[in-house]
Amino acid sequence: MDNLMQALKGEANLAVKPRPYFNHSVSFKGVHDRKARTEMMEKVGLNVFFFPADMITGCDFLSDSGTTTMTDEQWAALHMGDESYGSNKGYFMLRDAVNDTFGQGFWNEPTANRPNAFLFHQGRAAEDALFSVLGALGEGQIIPSNGHFDTTEANIEANKIEAVNLFSSELKDPNSTSKFKGNIDTNRLKTLLAESADKIPVVYITITNNTGGGQPVSMANIKEASEIANAAGKPLFLDSCRFAENAWFIQKNEEGYAQKSIKEIVREMFSYADGFTISFKKDGLSNMGGGLFLRDGGKFMQSYPQIPDMLTNLQILQEGHPTYGGMSGRDIMTLVVGLKTITRQEYLDARVQQVIDFGQAMVDAGIPVLTPFGGHAVYLDVNRFFEGTNMQPGDFGGISFTAILLAAYGHRACELGYFAFGSYNGETNEEKFPEVNFVRFAVPRLRYEKTDLDSVVEAVKEIYENRDKIPPTDVIYGKELPLRHFKARFEFKN
Ligand SMILES: Cc1ncc(COP(=O)(O)O)c(C=O)c1O
Repeated sequence: MDNLMQALKGEANLAVKPRPYFNHSVSFKGVHDRKARTEMMEKVGLNVFFFPADMITGCDFLSDSGTTTMTDEQWAALHMGDESYGSNKGYFMLRDAVNDTFGQGFWNEPTANRPNAFLFHQGRAAEDALFSVLGALGEGQIIPSNGHFDTTEANIEANKIEAVNLFSSELKDPNSTSKFKGNIDTNRLKTLLAESADKIPVVYITITNNTGGGQPVSMANIKEASEIANAAGKPLFLDSCRFAENAWFIQKNEEGYAQKSIKEIVREMFSYADGFTISFKKDGLSNMGGGLFLRDGGKFMQSYPQIPDMLTNLQILQEGHPTYGGMSGRDIMTLVVGLKTITRQEYLDARVQQVIDFGQAMVDAGIPVLTPFGGHAVYLDVNRFFEGTNMQPGDFGGISFTAILLAAYGHRACELGYFAFGSYNGETNEEKFPEVNFVRFAVPRLRYEKTDLDSVVEAVKEIYENRDKIPPTDVIYGKELPLRHFKARFEFKN
């Protein structure tokens, strides 16, 4: 036996490892053929958001938000949901889970004169609350970030605040080998603060940087950004939807963190923050939920002592009593369990590795994707994809690609590029294009298996090989609208 055990490599060395979980229950998909999908695609004006999910016979990568397959422990906890209107049981359990996960200081007693933990039904409601109370304090403000998410940026601008993205230069450099392309450009941050500190209420860092290719942010960058912000008297906030995945990258790729647990790394990340907004629909592993948390006694609370009460009023007007804040007791219970699962090493190893393997399979198939891979999605580089073809920026090749992938193969991906982040100026009849042009394959947590993802790679490869035949799109509705990718309709030009 001893000899044999020495000869066997053992599970840790296998190239393909078993998942650390098994399917507890499964859902069968609808049965629809290419013809039915193509007809439906035309009916919904090539906008994949309107395509009925039941007709998705492949993988649905539209979002990793709220699409998590819950664990059996979460389903069990859901049944323990306490739907009391005030101070439900789960509220206190969630407070303990948040303190345990992110470190102390972000959740006072609910009866405290200075509430600092605000629950909302999802992330953007928390963002809307924060930016609308800030916006009410005066015009001309600026909020810089390493990359605002689309709805975050929209919420900031809806409140007449300017959203500024300070992407790292590595993100745009295809030859960069940086492992942390999600970093904020600290030189540009310093310059902006030197020029306009009085207009900046808060500096934001999104972990991981969803708009910036889902790339992680290093601990050194979070720390440096907080020092730069603090030196100018400004607080640093984290948009922390994917905090655990970001911590995993720090553990694997940043010097000095290999021996630290995910929870230790998370707590250190948040020790540099004065507050955070979060959508629990990602690394809360729950299908609903969001929050805004302010450090008790921190720079933000000190600078804006009136804000906690303004936020509480908003919660009461728009969400519900602050002790449930737009979340059902059931959702709160699944979140309590989700926060315990999300920092488990074996969960994160499997989760992020699945995304990396998916991305690597795309690379191996010769498909141009952003590397290194982030923790929740693989991003197709649309400009490189269409290199050498007649596709022009204003033809929105990313939109054509997503429509064809779904109609022909049943997989739904999402354009996050020239159309989603661009804008149309009706006066000059010109399009303004953003810095990045991606199609995102966001991988839902705990949902798909390797065979599913392999079949996507094969499909994308086939489309890539025929890329010169992909027709351009015309926008037939909504090109001038804000948040246009959610609403627009298209048709193929030929
Ligand atoms: C980085 C980031 N911030 C904020 C949000 C908004 O969260 P929610 O969808 O819960 O409103 C998202 C959602 O995808 C996100 O990725």
